[in-house]
Amino acid sequence: MADASFAHRLPKAELHLHIEGTFEPELIFEIAERNKVTVPYPSVDALRRAYEFSDLQSFLNLYYDAMAVLRTEQDFADLAHAYLARAKGQGVVHAEIFFDPQAHTARGIPYEVVSDGLWSALRESERRYGISSKLILCFLRDLTAESAMQTLETALRHHGDRIVAVGLDSAEVGHPPTKFRHVFERARAEGLLTVAHAGEEGPPEYVWEALDVLKVSRVDHGVRSLEDPKLVARLRDEKIPLTVCPFSNVKLRVVDTLRDHPLARMLELGLHATVNSDDPAYFGGYVGDNLAGVADALALDDGTLATLARNSFTASFIDAPTRDRYLSRVAEA
Ligand code: HPA
Ligand code: ZN
Repeated sequence: MADASFAHRLPKAELHLHIEGTFEPELIFEIAERNKVTVPYPSVDALRRAYEFSDLQSFLNLYYDAMAVLRTEQDFADLAHAYLARAKGQGVVHAEIFFDPQAHTARGIPYEVVSDGLWSALRESERRYGISSKLILCFLRDLTAESAMQTLETALRHHGDRIVAVGLDSAEVGHPPTKFRHVFERARAEGLLTVAHAGEEGPPEYVWEALDVLKVSRVDHGVRSLEDPKLVARLRDEKIPLTVCPFSNVKLRVVDTLRDHPLARMLELGLHATVNSDDPAYFGGYVGDNLAGVADALALDDGTLATLARNSFTASFIDAPTRDRYLSRVAEA
């Protein structure tokens, strides 16, 4: 069995991380106070006790409520700094970070406030935390394609070069990737890469659509792909990375326990799986904790953990020389 310190110490890239999902209860209350808004829970402990989820939607309800206290550029900067500081302690050296602009613009917060706040932290990330970073704009799939297109146009006008890719998150079932065909076509025409949450709660068909219609470079989650052997063969043959989030899958009841998690099976099947934290403030741990958790529950040895760390870099959107430097650091760990 691998020890936790190796899992934490291994240099790694985090590829599936919602910045709004890193909002810890203490910071939620601090920012709420600063903005003179109330949190619908009496205390930090009471809020944390509410983190019992029955499915994705039950989590999303709380996630959107909590982020509603974010109002100013400073709030978004503080959120990102807090994540980067924690990520550093988890061995993260590169992070590709999702953000949900529509969850903020729908509340009257201008896109620029979100983008400028996050960017003020990310542009210092390498120097302050030793973490290179990229931003991925996610569309909320339970909103309309028109709303997604408007969000994309706003993002392209306001420092479009800050974004490496677009993604798709929020309530999956009933909102197939095809709904966003034109939005993703427009994004690709502008030179953006694409990813999408698929096969978390949704069926394998959504993973096929993400590949065939949205032309994704990676599939976020993708665990339900295992139900379809032809899809597994496709993902393996085309070396499509899957950004797997073990703690999230347990907390949102995609799997019963960590011991039942299919990560080891995915690796055995030749899939390019990576380990990520999704919404670490809500799901019980950051990415090093996730890696230590699966190492323990699935009896993964250090060699397998190193494979997962290598997978995280080869699945990332960094340039080849930087990727190779990170891979040498894994070899030295
Ligand atoms: N799935 C879908 N949408 C999300 C998630 C998730 O795990 N986390 C934040 N938004
Ligand atoms: Zn996610």
